[in-house]
Amino acid sequence: MKFLIINGVNLNLTGKREKGVYGTATLEQLNEQIANYCQKNGDEAAFYQSNIEGELVNKLHEANANKAFDGILLNAGAFTHYSYAIRDAIAAIDVPVAEVHISNVHAREEFRNVSVISEVCKGAVCGFGVGSYLAAIVGLKTVIG
Ligand code: DQA
Repeated sequence: MKFLIINGVNLNLTGKREKGVYGTATLEQLNEQIANYCQKNGDEAAFYQSNIEGELVNKLHEANANKAFDGILLNAGAFTHYSYAIRDAIAAIDVPVAEVHISNVHAREEFRNVSVISEVCKGAVCGFGVGSYLAAIVGLKTVIG
């Protein structure tokens, strides 16, 4: 299967910001681990990161129009907690989307307990670092069938 891994706002700084929360591995290193995991299982992964809400929306539209992916992993970063535009984009597309977070958003500040995208995602994984992405791939493969 082919997966598109989308990372949103500030995720380009992973490994450099708040290392106690997000770890020391850079986004490139996380992506490499995800790509290796996919390759081992006969799957493929493509990666996209943007800090711009509209670009994330465009990418979701594009992935749907291209029909190039079986599933999408989305770590929308802080947009998770308030972006109705990203929520509507997920609801508008047919490709199944899994919500992913590196940190355990439920064990942090109260505003992070709220996700406006969960309701339109197939499922959500948080708190396991790169393992959140890997678990989301397992989850998507299970529901896509
Ligand atoms: C995050 C959690 C969000 O609350 C935060 O704004 C991020 C990263 C995570 O991966 O743990 O930027 O999505």
